[in-house]
Amino acid sequence: MEKLGPGDEDLIRVASLARQRAHAPYSKYKVGAAVRTKRNKIYSGANVENASYGLTVCAERCAVFAAVAAGETKYYDAIAIVIDDDKLPTPCGACRQVIAEFAPDVRVVLATTGGLRKATTLTALLPEPFLPGNLS
Ligand code: THU
Repeated sequence: MEKLGPGDEDLIRVASLARQRAHAPYSKYKVGAAVRTKRNKIYSGANVENASYGLTVCAERCAVFAAVAAGETKYYDAIAIVIDDDKLPTPCGACRQVIAEFAPDVRVVLATTGGLRKATTLTALLPEPFLPGNLS
């Protein structure tokens, strides 16, 4: 298992703050995420649900899209994901694929508000992503 790195607790804190802004009135399952880029900038996101349930966007994708919209498209150093539960979060398959587009080897830091921690890699979570290179 990977170790937590320097700055990971900061990233978890930012993800936890974002989590408080989640819009999850239907599932009540609030998720926060924060990505740190190689240029040491942090972008965060929370899950945003909709009365038309299928339109919901996960926290991880909100965070990645915020980074990309700010021009930070290359290689994230780490992404933290936080929930308030007695077990660790695990990013859904769609989010794994979206993260892989920009950072196939990124470190993934899983955390709970209660203090559980686990560090892993996107490679471990999604060993064979479909990448831009597959199109050429
Ligand atoms: N959710 C996330 O934000 N990230 C994931 O990786 C899994 C699921 C959200 C979507 C929905 O708002 C709620 O959690 C329950 O599925």
